[in-house]
Amino acid sequence: MKLRNSRVLITGATGGLGQAIARGIGARGAALVLTGRRRELLDELAAELGARAIVSDLSWRAEVDRLAREAVAAEVDVLIANAGLPATGVLTELSSEQIDRMLEVNLRAPMMLAHALAPGMIARGRGHMVFISSLSGKVASPASAIYSATKFGLRGFALGIREDLRPHGVGVSTVLPGFISGAGMFADAGVELPRGAGTRPPEDVAAAVIRAIERNRAEIEVAPAGLRVGAALATLAPQLAAAVSRRMGSERLAAELAEGQREKR
Ligand SMILES: NC(=O)c1ccc[n+]([C@@H]2O[C@H](COP(=O)([O-])OP(=O)(O)OC[C@H]3O[C@@H](n4cnc5c(N)ncnc54)[C@H](OP(=O)(O)O)[C@@H]3O)[C@@H](O)[C@H]2O)c1
Repeated sequence: MKLRNSRVLITGATGGLGQAIARGIGARGAALVLTGRRRELLDELAAELGARAIVSDLSWRAEVDRLAREAVAAEVDVLIANAGLPATGVLTELSSEQIDRMLEVNLRAPMMLAHALAPGMIARGRGHMVFISSLSGKVASPASAIYSATKFGLRGFALGIREDLRPHGVGVSTVLPGFISGAGMFADAGVELPRGAGTRPPEDVAAAVIRAIERNRAEIEVAPAGLRVGAALATLAPQLAAAVSRRMGSERLAAELAEGQREKR
């Protein structure tokens, strides 16, 4: 669908990828509704893009409901469910409160926003939803079982409702970034990748989101070819892929990532 004059809700707009997505979608002539928790950053971005800002903590169900009501009232045509927290860490070291928060923000909130917005999109015969998953939605790694559970889950949800909404003229896409450099939760963790792993900038994620909406693509991966081939193999032979990753240092990388992302959990 065309983005010009569409009304687009972007969650996690204050984050590294969210800001790039907001600028990319804004440049296409869409009217933006931006949400995040950091009010100052959100207000600044909204002022820059002529957008509406709604502060909302998606780990609280009442806040998700409030955001959903506002989005329905604003007749949002496009949902970009991007907010997420790095749900890394070994399961036994996470508290049950942390696990609940990871599930609420990364998985339940996108589902509930889709649930609230779908009827309006169906009635208008027009709309699109984009879910920002991750290559961790295809490949599991050490010390990120909950993150993978949410990202596999989001991908399954998106592929499922894509079929349900297709007859009503509403598109659904999943965007799966690999390691993103320059800004965002991977860059902020400050870890060094094994040689050859490769990164992509946030602007590539924004371009993928735009392509997903304009061409109604089911899935777009945003990663160098080597990682994309690795992800494809991992879906066919997960144990073999895990053994190869271990040899390439996946346990060290996972431990460093979990440590570097501790503050965001
Ligand atoms: N960066 C990568 O390499 C990478 C790779 C694959 C997938 N992803 C996915 O891309 C998405 C964006 O991540 P990012 O890299 O931009 O991370 P980020 O810079 O840490 O930004 C995360 C965003 O999510 C929002 N958020 C976190 N907890 C929230 C909560 N409780 N309520 C409402 N909003 C909340 C943050 O809002 P506030 O900051 O305002 O609290 C922020 O806008 C995530 O879904 C992530 O899993 C990222």
